[in-house]
Amino acid sequence: MMVMNDHETSIVLIGFMGTGKSTVGQQLAQHLGYEFIDLDAEIVSRQGRTIPELFAQDGEAYFRLQENRILTDLLQHKTRLVIATGGGAVLDDNNCKTMLHNGFVVALTAQLDTIVARVQGDTNRPLLQGDVTERVHALMEARLGRYDFAHCTVETDYLAVEPIIAAIMSAYAKHSLR
Ligand code: S3P
Repeated sequence: MMVMNDHETSIVLIGFMGTGKSTVGQQLAQHLGYEFIDLDAEIVSRQGRTIPELFAQDGEAYFRLQENRILTDLLQHKTRLVIATGGGAVLDDNNCKTMLHNGFVVALTAQLDTIVARVQGDTNRPLLQGDVTERVHALMEARLGRYDFAHCTVETDYLAVEPIIAAIMSAYAKHSLR
Protein backbone atom coordinates (compact mmCIF):
# COMPACT_ATOMS: atom_id res chain seq x y z
CA MET A 1 0.00 0.00 0.00
CA MET A 2 1.19 3.47 -0.82
CA VAL A 3 -0.47 6.66 0.41
CA MET A 4 0.39 9.42 -2.02
CA ASN A 5 -0.95 12.58 -0.48
CA ASP A 6 -2.64 14.28 2.45
CA HIS A 7 -5.90 14.88 0.64
CA GLU A 8 -6.50 11.30 -0.40
CA THR A 9 -8.74 12.48 -3.18
CA SER A 10 -10.76 9.76 -4.83
CA ILE A 11 -9.77 8.71 -8.33
CA VAL A 12 -12.50 8.48 -10.96
CA LEU A 13 -11.92 6.43 -14.09
CA ILE A 14 -13.89 7.47 -17.15
CA GLY A 15 -13.78 6.17 -20.71
CA PHE A 16 -15.70 4.38 -23.40
CA MET A 17 -16.91 0.81 -22.84
CA GLY A 18 -14.04 -1.65 -23.13
CA THR A 19 -11.25 0.76 -22.23
CA GLY A 20 -10.40 -1.28 -19.13
CA LYS A 21 -11.80 0.92 -16.35
CA SER A 22 -12.85 -1.96 -14.08
CA THR A 23 -9.69 -4.03 -14.53
CA VAL A 24 -7.39 -1.05 -14.06
CA GLY A 25 -9.52 0.39 -11.24
CA GLN A 26 -9.40 -2.79 -9.18
CA GLN A 27 -5.64 -3.05 -9.31
CA LEU A 28 -5.11 0.69 -8.86
CA ALA A 29 -7.20 0.61 -5.68
CA GLN A 30 -5.10 -2.26 -4.40
CA HIS A 31 -1.87 -0.31 -5.04
CA LEU A 32 -3.19 2.71 -3.18
CA GLY A 33 -5.02 0.89 -0.39
CA TYR A 34 -8.20 2.64 -1.50
CA GLU A 35 -11.66 1.12 -1.74
CA PHE A 36 -12.66 0.06 -5.27
CA ILE A 37 -16.16 0.76 -6.50
CA ASP A 38 -17.48 -0.31 -9.87
CA LEU A 39 -20.39 2.04 -10.44
CA ASP A 40 -22.29 -0.41 -12.66
CA ALA A 41 -21.91 -3.18 -10.07
CA GLU A 42 -23.07 -0.78 -7.36
CA ILE A 43 -26.21 0.08 -9.36
CA VAL A 44 -26.90 -3.62 -10.00
CA SER A 45 -26.46 -4.49 -6.34
CA ARG A 46 -28.67 -1.61 -5.08
CA GLN A 47 -31.36 -2.34 -7.67
CA GLY A 48 -31.20 -6.14 -7.47
CA ARG A 49 -31.41 -6.25 -11.28
CA THR A 50 -28.90 -6.62 -14.10
CA ILE A 51 -28.09 -3.71 -16.42
CA PRO A 52 -29.94 -5.31 -19.38
CA GLU A 53 -32.96 -5.79 -17.08
CA LEU A 54 -32.81 -2.17 -15.92
CA PHE A 55 -32.61 -0.87 -19.50
CA ALA A 56 -35.40 -3.19 -20.69
CA GLN A 57 -37.77 -2.63 -17.78
CA ASP A 58 -37.26 1.05 -16.94
CA GLY A 59 -35.27 2.51 -19.81
CA GLU A 60 -31.91 4.21 -20.16
CA ALA A 61 -33.08 7.44 -18.50
CA TYR A 62 -33.88 5.56 -15.31
CA PHE A 63 -30.45 3.91 -15.37
CA ARG A 64 -28.81 7.33 -15.85
CA LEU A 65 -30.70 8.68 -12.86
CA GLN A 66 -29.41 5.86 -10.64
CA GLU A 67 -25.91 6.37 -12.04
CA ASN A 68 -26.06 10.09 -11.21
CA ARG A 69 -27.44 9.55 -7.69
CA ILE A 70 -24.92 6.92 -6.67
CA LEU A 71 -21.91 8.69 -8.19
CA THR A 72 -22.82 11.99 -6.52
CA ASP A 73 -23.49 10.30 -3.20
CA LEU A 74 -20.17 8.43 -3.23
CA LEU A 75 -18.04 11.37 -4.28
CA GLN A 76 -19.62 13.80 -1.85
CA HIS A 77 -19.49 11.55 1.17
CA LYS A 78 -16.36 9.45 0.81
CA THR A 79 -12.66 9.82 0.04
CA ARG A 80 -9.97 7.24 -0.79
CA LEU A 81 -12.10 5.60 -3.46
CA VAL A 82 -11.21 4.39 -6.91
CA ILE A 83 -14.44 4.53 -8.91
CA ALA A 84 -14.78 2.88 -12.30
CA THR A 85 -17.69 4.66 -13.97
CA GLY A 86 -19.79 3.35 -16.84
CA GLY A 87 -18.91 4.73 -20.27
CA GLY A 88 -22.00 6.93 -20.37
CA ALA A 89 -21.59 8.59 -16.97
CA VAL A 90 -19.93 11.55 -18.71
CA LEU A 91 -23.09 12.32 -20.71
CA ASP A 92 -24.49 14.18 -17.70
CA ASP A 93 -22.70 17.51 -17.26
CA ASN A 94 -23.49 17.48 -13.55
CA ASN A 95 -21.65 14.18 -13.22
CA CYS A 96 -18.60 15.69 -14.91
CA LYS A 97 -18.64 18.70 -12.57
CA THR A 98 -18.98 16.48 -9.51
CA MET A 99 -16.11 14.26 -10.68
CA LEU A 100 -13.82 17.22 -11.31
CA HIS A 101 -14.74 18.87 -8.06
CA ASN A 102 -14.39 15.82 -5.82
CA GLY A 103 -11.92 13.59 -7.55
CA PHE A 104 -8.89 13.13 -9.74
CA VAL A 105 -10.37 12.21 -13.11
CA VAL A 106 -8.55 9.76 -15.38
CA ALA A 107 -9.73 9.01 -18.91
CA LEU A 108 -8.79 5.65 -20.43
CA THR A 109 -8.92 5.54 -24.21
CA ALA A 110 -8.70 2.87 -26.89
CA GLN A 111 -9.16 2.77 -30.65
CA LEU A 112 -12.30 1.41 -32.25
CA ASP A 113 -10.74 -1.94 -33.28
CA THR A 114 -9.39 -2.53 -29.78
CA ILE A 115 -12.75 -1.78 -28.22
CA VAL A 116 -14.66 -3.99 -30.66
CA ALA A 117 -12.26 -6.88 -29.94
CA ARG A 118 -12.70 -6.41 -26.19
CA VAL A 119 -16.51 -6.15 -26.12
CA GLN A 120 -17.38 -8.64 -28.87
CA GLY A 121 -19.98 -11.18 -27.75
CA ASP A 122 -20.79 -9.34 -24.53
CA THR A 123 -24.50 -9.57 -23.74
CA ASN A 124 -24.33 -7.37 -20.64
CA ARG A 125 -24.07 -4.05 -22.52
CA PRO A 126 -27.51 -3.12 -23.91
CA LEU A 127 -26.14 -0.28 -26.06
CA LEU A 128 -23.90 -2.68 -28.00
CA GLN A 129 -26.44 -5.29 -29.05
CA GLY A 130 -26.69 -5.91 -32.80
CA ASP A 131 -23.78 -5.05 -35.11
CA VAL A 132 -21.07 -4.35 -32.54
CA THR A 133 -18.69 -2.50 -34.86
CA GLU A 134 -21.48 -0.26 -36.10
CA ARG A 135 -22.73 0.40 -32.55
CA VAL A 136 -19.27 1.20 -31.18
CA HIS A 137 -18.54 3.45 -34.16
CA ALA A 138 -21.82 5.38 -33.82
CA LEU A 139 -21.47 5.81 -30.05
CA MET A 140 -17.83 6.87 -30.29
CA GLU A 141 -18.82 9.54 -32.82
CA ALA A 142 -21.71 10.72 -30.68
CA ARG A 143 -19.42 10.93 -27.64
CA LEU A 144 -16.47 12.58 -29.35
CA GLY A 145 -14.77 14.96 -26.93
CA ARG A 146 -16.89 13.82 -23.99
CA TYR A 147 -13.96 12.27 -22.14
CA ASP A 148 -11.60 15.20 -22.72
CA PHE A 149 -12.32 16.99 -19.45
CA ALA A 150 -10.23 14.50 -17.43
CA HIS A 151 -7.17 15.61 -15.48
CA CYS A 152 -5.17 12.98 -17.33
CA THR A 153 -5.65 10.61 -20.24
CA VAL A 154 -4.01 7.21 -20.75
CA GLU A 155 -4.14 5.27 -24.02
CA THR A 156 -4.66 1.59 -23.31
CA ASP A 157 -4.31 -0.01 -26.76
CA TYR A 158 -0.75 -1.25 -26.44
CA LEU A 159 -0.21 -1.14 -22.69
CA ALA A 160 -0.56 -3.85 -20.06
CA VAL A 161 -2.31 -2.99 -16.79
CA GLU A 162 0.91 -2.30 -14.81
CA PRO A 163 2.23 0.55 -17.00
CA ILE A 164 -1.26 2.06 -17.14
CA ILE A 165 -1.34 2.09 -13.35
CA ALA A 166 2.16 3.58 -13.22
CA ALA A 167 1.08 6.41 -15.55
CA ILE A 168 -1.98 7.14 -13.42
CA MET A 169 -0.01 7.05 -10.15
CA SER A 170 2.53 9.48 -11.51
CA ALA A 171 -0.15 11.94 -12.70
CA TYR A 172 -2.03 11.56 -9.42
CA ALA A 173 1.08 12.29 -7.37
CA LYS A 174 1.78 15.46 -9.38
CA HIS A 175 -1.83 16.56 -9.06
CA SER A 176 -1.72 16.01 -5.30
CA LEU A 177 1.39 18.19 -4.95
CA ARG A 178 -0.21 21.20 -6.60
C1 S3P B 1 -22.66 2.29 -20.81
C2 S3P B 1 -21.54 1.64 -20.35
C3 S3P B 1 -21.61 0.48 -19.44
C4 S3P B 1 -22.89 0.55 -18.61
C5 S3P B 1 -24.10 0.68 -19.51
C6 S3P B 1 -24.04 1.92 -20.38
C7 S3P B 1 -22.49 3.42 -21.76
O1 S3P B 1 -20.47 0.46 -18.58
O2 S3P B 1 -22.84 1.61 -17.71
O3 S3P B 1 -24.19 -0.48 -20.28
O4 S3P B 1 -23.46 4.16 -21.98
O5 S3P B 1 -21.36 3.61 -22.27
P1 S3P B 1 -18.98 0.06 -19.07
O6 S3P B 1 -18.35 1.28 -19.65
O7 S3P B 1 -18.31 -0.38 -17.83
O8 S3P B 1 -19.14 -1.02 -20.06
